[in-house]
Amino acid sequence: MKKEKDTLAKQSNNLSGNKPEVSDDLKPQFLNNPIISAPPITKQYLKAVINHKVEGKNFYFTDGTATVQIQVLSDEIIRVRMAPQSVFLADFSYAISPFDHRISHIDFFENNEVYKVSTTMVSCVVCKENFLISFVDNQDRVISADDKSMHYEENADFGGYYVYCSKICNPHENFFALGDKPTNFNLRGKRLNLWNTDTYAFSRNQDPLYRSIPFYIGLNEGISYGIFFDNTFRTHFDFAHEKSNRVSFWADGGELNYYYIHGPQMIDVVKRYHCLTGTHEMPPMWALGYHQCRWSYYPEAKVKNLADTFREKKIPCDAIYLDIDYMDGYRCFTWDKRYFPDPKGMMQELEAMGFKTVVIIDPGIKVDENYWVYKEGKEHNYFCRRCDDYFMEGNVWPGRCQFPDFTNPKVRDWWGGLFKELVEAGVDGIWNDMNEPAVFGSGTFPDDVRHNFDHYRGSHRKAHNIYGMQMVRATFQGLKKQQRNKRPFTITRAGYSGVQRYASVWTGDNIATWEHLKLNNIMCQRLSISGISFCGADIGGFTGEPDGELFTRWIQLGVFSPLMRAHSAGDTKEREPWSFGEEYEKICRRFIELRYQLLPYLYTAFWQHQRHQLPVLRPVVMLEQDNQINHFREDEFSFGDKILICPVLEPGVNSRKVYLPKGNWYNFFTNEKMDGGKEHVVPTPIDSMPVFIKAGSVIPLYPVMQYVNEIDFEALTLKTYFSDKPAESVVYEDEGDGFGYQQGVFLEKRFNVNGTNSTFIMKQRIEGLYSPQYDKYHHFIYGLPFRAGRIMVDGNELKQYSVDSKNRLSFKTSRDFHTIDIKS
Ligand code: GLC
Repeated sequence: MKKEKDTLAKQSNNLSGNKPEVSDDLKPQFLNNPIISAPPITKQYLKAVINHKVEGKNFYFTDGTATVQIQVLSDEIIRVRMAPQSVFLADFSYAISPFDHRISHIDFFENNEVYKVSTTMVSCVVCKENFLISFVDNQDRVISADDKSMHYEENADFGGYYVYCSKICNPHENFFALGDKPTNFNLRGKRLNLWNTDTYAFSRNQDPLYRSIPFYIGLNEGISYGIFFDNTFRTHFDFAHEKSNRVSFWADGGELNYYYIHGPQMIDVVKRYHCLTGTHEMPPMWALGYHQCRWSYYPEAKVKNLADTFREKKIPCDAIYLDIDYMDGYRCFTWDKRYFPDPKGMMQELEAMGFKTVVIIDPGIKVDENYWVYKEGKEHNYFCRRCDDYFMEGNVWPGRCQFPDFTNPKVRDWWGGLFKELVEAGVDGIWNDMNEPAVFGSGTFPDDVRHNFDHYRGSHRKAHNIYGMQMVRATFQGLKKQQRNKRPFTITRAGYSGVQRYASVWTGDNIATWEHLKLNNIMCQRLSISGISFCGADIGGFTGEPDGELFTRWIQLGVFSPLMRAHSAGDTKEREPWSFGEEYEKICRRFIELRYQLLPYLYTAFWQHQRHQLPVLRPVVMLEQDNQINHFREDEFSFGDKILICPVLEPGVNSRKVYLPKGNWYNFFTNEKMDGGKEHVVPTPIDSMPVFIKAGSVIPLYPVMQYVNEIDFEALTLKTYFSDKPAESVVYEDEGDGFGYQQGVFLEKRFNVNGTNSTFIMKQRIEGLYSPQYDKYHHFIYGLPFRAGRIMVDGNELKQYSVDSKNRLSFKTSRDFHTIDIKS
């Protein structure tokens, strides 16, 4: 057998002219070379480059058989594509979103050894002799270099090629991102693959899970770069697992098509990845409140009782979820009238109490000739089919189902329209689940299912990883149309790179254990640096029974998760913030209240994400990448740009170690000033957790509310933390919903502070057209190294202020002040 393979390899080498000198008729015609019919090609490495061509910002190189395209996308992003037979696949991507990238200048250079395509920031160097590609920064430092030339192997069963890329991994190089992996935050030493999978009660190190984000960040000698391998087939990543000096990625099909993204700061890599694949839109502010979910709250009386209990107990909450039991026999877009005789009336009542209703919608449509959704889908031929034209049928909650082909734009339009009645009845948000797609028994669709793939056609091998993303895209766009002036709120389980443009994400069916609390922390940080900032895990653990302590610690971490949703499986005990006795209830209330106080701060972090492409959660390694120890820290993270969190992740502990990055910090609860650049042991009684504010920050706080917009208030609280170095904070405000902000109806306020031993100055610059409902700021200033003697606001002396025993200064000003000048 081996011999035969070798002979075939030789033949194919000859047939494809894979040697340095080729006769003219075998030279590739670059983009229009016909595929030469031949026995399957065994593993081929790119050989010496024999020819090149330049077309604007595209550079083509060939070894006589394969062609590689190097495309400059921006000063920091360079794309590499390989076509094994010099015929590139259609250039289509579900991940990439339009962006006005900047290219200052491109240089092309050639000598005897190399070709070099350079921007002002980075060069892509192609070695003539062996086709090795490397990326070099503008100080001639090699950041990432091929270990072997790119290679490919024909897939005789399906056509196309397995495509491979291997790069050198340096001894101290570390790796991050890749979506949702429930493993160490630092991925060095791991081999992982991406294939969206329904993984109920997943465990640590289980792979793959629900989402496919083929984007990783390398950190090599203090310089960070990213690789985005935009390939929707099953992809594989080896981070120095097989060989300690090699990192590889490959796919079971499609094109070897990747983007090198230059840093050198990790936060810039993430920013640029967002420039490629988009960001979340601004969520409605209520979506940042507390969400209560369970499988399932029904009937109506139960839902109302839940709502009443939140309000009676004065535990803030904005959203209540209805899981699958609201439907008639799990038929999507229907109501079980036995349990919900008047959905509209119920949702009106909830709305009046300040609750939004979010309902689940799965992709499986019950095969039932009396069911309108099935009938419409069947009539228009919207359901997926197998290779021989049979329908793709499989069992999910409703029994036998067919599945819309969300990769067909017509199907997406139809699907979007299906939300009309739900929206008219008063549904505020949609939860898309089971969209890996999940099928009972087999797990998912067989490979031979056909997809439209936006007219680029493909089997399920190609469409599997983007199925869920296209489902929630259809949902999101449908809601946008149906809800008119409201921002859609959607949450999805499955996704692919770019899914952030359409949805928030939760991490799936976790377990009520301390181990999963830790995984929650790691996975959300990882998702955030993988483009998906709007993420959260099921607070309390989906399956299994948490005790009061675990639930409370989970609520505490949830306060600092961009999506804060408690959820639990139907076979667990009822689980709301009051389920574990009064002591825990009190603490949970206090922390949920804190979430509501922090809403203007979190909302600003989303603005910074949406407008400036920054992640909401930032792991410590992103704050201080030069410090090698930080490459292995996974507990501490920054929530937005000013607040450092270190959740308590163990039972029964009264203190824990926390690393504070360099600079000065303040304990949020005690206001104690602390030095950064070292570890501290911080007390962690159950009613507290380590939360620190960076010196120089201005943190906006709302009064406690039971739901977003519950009350009008007279003054926005600003907590300002002294710094003897200049520091800037941003506060963003808008209407909290609608699209006025896209027309400039928002405020972006910049606060600049600086202080000395005897002075402190705070300036405000305001941009935008929005007018908030409050008139004043209520200032609290912490950490002044002197006792305030004179406070001037815009040139006028302020007479009314107070100083407490801890030298905390408080006073009020107009919301439009320009300068506050405090002297001893
Ligand atoms: C899946 C979801 C879970 C949901 C359940 C029932 O397991 O992951 O969140 O509650 O299905 O719809």
